[in-house]
Amino acid sequence: MATDDQILLARTHLASARNVTVLTGAGISADSGVPTFRGADGLWRTYRAEDLATPEAFARDPRLVWEWYNWRRELIATKSPNPAHEALVELERRKKQFWLITQNVDGLHRAAGSRQLSEIHGNIWRVRCTGCGEISENREVPLPLLPMCGRCHALLRPHIVWFGESLREEDLHRCDEVLRDCDLLLVIGTSGVVYPAAGYASVAKEVGALVIEINLETTPRPDLVDLSLQGRAKDVVPLLL
Ligand code: OAD
Repeated sequence: MATDDQILLARTHLASARNVTVLTGAGISADSGVPTFRGADGLWRTYRAEDLATPEAFARDPRLVWEWYNWRRELIATKSPNPAHEALVELERRKKQFWLITQNVDGLHRAAGSRQLSEIHGNIWRVRCTGCGEISENREVPLPLLPMCGRCHALLRPHIVWFGESLREEDLHRCDEVLRDCDLLLVIGTSGVVYPAAGYASVAKEVGALVIEINLETTPRPDLVDLSLQGRAKDVVPLLL
């Protein structure tokens, strides 16, 4: 667990930083009861990503993929933001220059009230038409196993960036900008193995930003982290304000 001295130091850095960027991963939502992907209880222990989270998997068996997303939508629908999500809303309020990059698709940052936000892997509450490309908000739980577009009747897919797909150009651009401009990057609850987010700490370091990490465990690139705060996001993040 992070020591009082470490917390105090992180708090001082955060208070004096002018431009703060935050990167979050599944660990921040773990405290709301949303399963992570890796680790002992991670989703990728039970399911194979290549069967469920790739465009090939969807082309092969859209019902199976929708069944999995329906299960996740059902689970996430019962979850609420926790004190770590809420602390980031407060941080956004306090800082003139602030941006939150999340890899999470659960929508909990938005539900908490974060607005300066890029959901780089998409959002589980949005669907996209494989025919006309229309993106729409959809909170129906469960969806029919082959949901169809109301406009053109083609199959809908989750509006999620799957393995093998690229991030949206506007997100890539925005993330690059906020990482290059920041003087402090907070990295919360991500295993740091999925790119491009796994490379964000090194982009921030390149421009001389301070990198503070909050995680239950140590992550693969400790050399990129200036201050590592071990503990649960819901306990540690609120202490930084
Ligand atoms: P992972 O499941 O890979 O990693 C979760 C991280 O959170 C681990 O480093 C844990 O140690 C840490 N952690 C767990 N509980 C925590 C807690 N209560 N407080 C703080 N840290 C905690 O999740 P991501 O790094 O987000 O992609 O995974 C990246 C991407 O891989 C996901 O966005 C997803 C997945 O495949 C897509 O869905 C496209």
